[in-house]
Amino acid sequence: MSDEIRSVRGFHDILGNDLKKFRRITNVVRRILKLYNFEEIILPVVEYAELFQRSIGEVTDIVQKEMFTFQDKKGRWLALRPEGTAGTVRAYIQHRMYAERPYRKLFYEGPMFRYERPQAGRYRQFHQIGAEIFGVGDPEADFEIIEIVYKILKELNITVVIEINSLGCLKCRPAYREELVTFLNEVEENLCEVCKERKDKNPLRVLDCKVETCRETFKSSPKVIDYLCEECKEHFERLQSFLNSSDIPYRINPSLVRGLDYYSRTVFEAVSDDLSTTIIAGGRYDYLVEQLGGPPTPATGFAVGIERTALLLPDVEEDVESYIVIPFGEVKEYAMKVADILRSKGYTVEFSYRRGGLRKQLEYADKMGFRYAVIIGEDEMKEGKVTLKDMREGVQVTKNIEEL
Ligand code: HAM
Repeated sequence: MSDEIRSVRGFHDILGNDLKKFRRITNVVRRILKLYNFEEIILPVVEYAELFQRSIGEVTDIVQKEMFTFQDKKGRWLALRPEGTAGTVRAYIQHRMYAERPYRKLFYEGPMFRYERPQAGRYRQFHQIGAEIFGVGDPEADFEIIEIVYKILKELNITVVIEINSLGCLKCRPAYREELVTFLNEVEENLCEVCKERKDKNPLRVLDCKVETCRETFKSSPKVIDYLCEECKEHFERLQSFLNSSDIPYRINPSLVRGLDYYSRTVFEAVSDDLSTTIIAGGRYDYLVEQLGGPPTPATGFAVGIERTALLLPDVEEDVESYIVIPFGEVKEYAMKVADILRSKGYTVEFSYRRGGLRKQLEYADKMGFRYAVIIGEDEMKEGKVTLKDMREGVQVTKNIEEL
């Protein structure tokens, strides 16, 4: 035998039960997004690297450490998309969507790429389904986004905690930034090398560091939420009053900063009970459209990490009415016709290619989870009948082919 070629580290096949969970998640999300009138957009997997540098930010883990970048034959820097918001904004501007109507609701689904250290629920190719609302600055859009996230989780029967925070705006953030830098300078010796380097370039990113000693140090850092201007404060309070008048459980996490630079005001994450994984995340990004060359356009959105969400999903039990047609003797043409009659009625039907006795065939049918076995021998064919065995109930009846 020749050497076996395996998939690339961090890139995985999705099959079997994992795929059933994957589809269940995307079906639920798609159905809920349709209820809110979102329209789908299919985005390219490759974009100019600059798009992500200018949106996610130069001094972020995603751009500095995790992007798959490469040069094309003309020497231009391209990147495999690490997320979907930047591409959606690019498309929104490129197709002048803002000119058509005052607001726009878009959603996308597909693979994303980040060069992270692979582990359970963390891959280098993973999948997101995400949605963005353009043109609405009011907190009701943030509420709608969080409400959609909550509905998705509820429908999937997943219990998580929704944490929210506000990161302020261009007006109030500079004062906070100054306070934060003063604090970071005071505790500099406790910071990891990356944080030491980042604290002057992009101090807010420092708060996102995963190193334990840094996390411990940041417990006493100034919190952005205490520095909000009047408008940001009001925006955040109104979001909370929407949430309070719904049945959505949430809590404020003043340390929540997110790993991407484009956020302003509302940010949120749906994290598992033990707080170890974030499965759905998002927030507002009121400056990004303008920053990427469009007109000033407030926006807000979220993305579901499909693999991470699948980890919290119980096994999907499918109860489909599937049939296996088992022919014995010279009856194949007749048996194939029977299989097709069932298919034309919308049932899933497998025509058995196996050889061997009835017992073996029924064992197989049972093991593979078929609901009915359709047994066809020469007697059945002569009389235009089939023998139908209900694999769950164990009962067997003979039926005319018209009765199927
Ligand atoms: P994000 O937090 O970077 O946000 O990613 C969203 C979700 O993608 C995460 O909560 C997680 O479930 C999943 N995810 C991220 N990295 C990996 C990985 N390496 N392996 C598996 N799953 C992963 C965004 O991407 C923003 N674009 C969300 C957004 C939309 N904000 C506004 N609109």
